This record gives sequence, C-alpha cells and structure tokens, in this order.
Amino acid sequence: MSVSAARRSVSAARRRLGQTRWPGKVPRPVALAERIERAHALDRPIRALSGTVVRALPAGQRTDALHGVPFGQPAHPALVRLPLGCWTSAVLLDLFRGSERASRLLVAAGVLATVPAAATGLADWSALHRDQQRVGLVHLCAQGAAGTMFCGSLLARLAGRHGYGKVLSVAGLACASGGAYLGGHLALRLGAGASHADQVSHLSELGWHDLCTLESLPQRRPVRRQLGYLSLLVYRTSDSVYVLSDRCAHLGGPLHQGRIVTERGAECVTCPWHGSTFRLSDGRVVHGPATARQPSFETRVSGDGFVQLRPRP
Ligand code: FES
Repeated sequence: MSVSAARRSVSAARRRLGQTRWPGKVPRPVALAERIERAHALDRPIRALSGTVVRALPAGQRTDALHGVPFGQPAHPALVRLPLGCWTSAVLLDLFRGSERASRLLVAAGVLATVPAAATGLADWSALHRDQQRVGLVHLCAQGAAGTMFCGSLLARLAGRHGYGKVLSVAGLACASGGAYLGGHLALRLGAGASHADQVSHLSELGWHDLCTLESLPQRRPVRRQLGYLSLLVYRTSDSVYVLSDRCAHLGGPLHQGRIVTERGAECVTCPWHGSTFRLSDGRVVHGPATARQPSFETRVSGDGFVQLRPRP
C-alpha cells in the first residue's frame, strides 16, 4: 500500500472512530450542558427552591461559613470530594473482590458526607445567575439520585443482598459522575466559585498613578472611575479616599451601585447583586457569598490636589 493510500485509510478510520464516539443523535456532554443553561422550563422550580433556600439561610455567620468565607474560597468543591472518593473506592473494592465490610463502610461514609456537601452547594447555588442555576439544579438532581442509590445499596448490603447492593453502587457512581461533570461545567465554564474581580496585578502597572482631582469626588457617595482597563469604586470621606476594584469578586456586580454600611465598626460596601459585603479600607470579605478579597488600593493626595493610587500588596 502506498503512503498516501495508508494516510487516506487512517483518516477514514479516524472519521469512523469519531462517528462511533459521537453519533449524530447523541449530543456531546458539553452540548448537553449548554442546552441545560438555556432550559427555561427549569425556571419555575428554580424560583421556588431558590426562594426556600434564601429564606432558610439568611445573611449571617452560618451562611458565610457555608459559602466558605472563613476559608477564603468556596467550601463546596472541597467537600464533594469526600462522597465521590468514598463511593469510587467502594465500587473498586466490589469490582476487585475486596472486603464487603470495607465497601459497606465506604458507602455509608459517602452517604454521610453528602450532607455538608449538599448544604454548602445549596447555599452557593442560591446566589448564582439563572443560567448557572439551571445547570446547578440538574447537577443537584444527579447527585441526589446518586445519594439515593447509595442509600439503597447500603440497605441492600445490610440485608445481605450483596449483588443488588453492588449494582446499585455502580448505578449511583454513574449518576454521581454525570453530576460531577455538570459541576465542572458550572465552575470552569460558567465561572461559579471563581473570583470575578479584575486581575489588578495584570492590568495595572506597579507604582503610583494619578486618578482624578480630589475636588471632583463627591463626599460620602460611591462613584465609578476608570484607570486604564480597570473600573474602580471610589468613596471619599472627610479624611480618606477609599478605592476598590469595581467588579465584585463574586460574580462581577457593579460595587459603585452598592450601599455603604457600617459592619463591625468599619465602613463597607454591599454589592447590589447578591449582598456580598467588603471592607472599604482593604477589600476584606465581611459577608459572602463572595469568598475572595476584593482588590484594593492605597491612596494619597498629591500637592496639586490629585488623588493618586497604587495596588495594595
Ligand atoms: S455579584 Fe454577587 S454579590 Fe456581588
């Protein structure tokens, strides 16, 4: 066979392989996830569930802990590893004829670990955009189905029906893996959980920059100013000028449209979208759902009355 004929047959085989993997009628997983993003039929149950979650979790320290504010990042991604890890290990033990007692223990530990994972996930989900919530709802249903199957598996194993328990475990793991894919789509494609604040260190040069004249800033009213590519929230008091990056770290809300409040003795800004609260002096998160510190700037006033700023290290 000539080289070109061999190449043609390899490309034909690749095309056939591609068609075998994704035949026309089976959508690729990412296409399915994108369809879920646009599935308006989910909006009614989302409104009902989201309202219930918001009522059950009013703003405060408990809700902040569920969002992961004390840890500086969302708690949910770390906690979901526990049930998934336990359940995967249990199925592997079943497949390779490991100890039934160990499998049972892992299935039970996974079921218990779903409680904190679900609580943190629901708290985060209730403060997302609607397209993210649609994907999140299907993710939640898949993980709920997985949890139910593993509960059934545990009961079957305890009743001595080991074969049935193993089948339920495999089905549960398949569901959990589908749900985990949607969780990945939510976090990595739709940016849930990542910081949406501007990457100040990449967008601004080091050193001091002129912003505007002090005279042009109103007293005690947050305003937006631009420094190159950066949008900034600027708030002037009688003796200071506070500057934070304007795009909220949670999902990019406009902080200059937020309310100025006093929390724990410090002046803070509350995001108009989901209520994240940041200390004006250094961008520290006082209340979630944001978990990442808001980029902040040191300021000074030059001799000719210009407000100058530089990113706070
Ligand atoms: S965008 Fe959600 S709290 Fe700011």
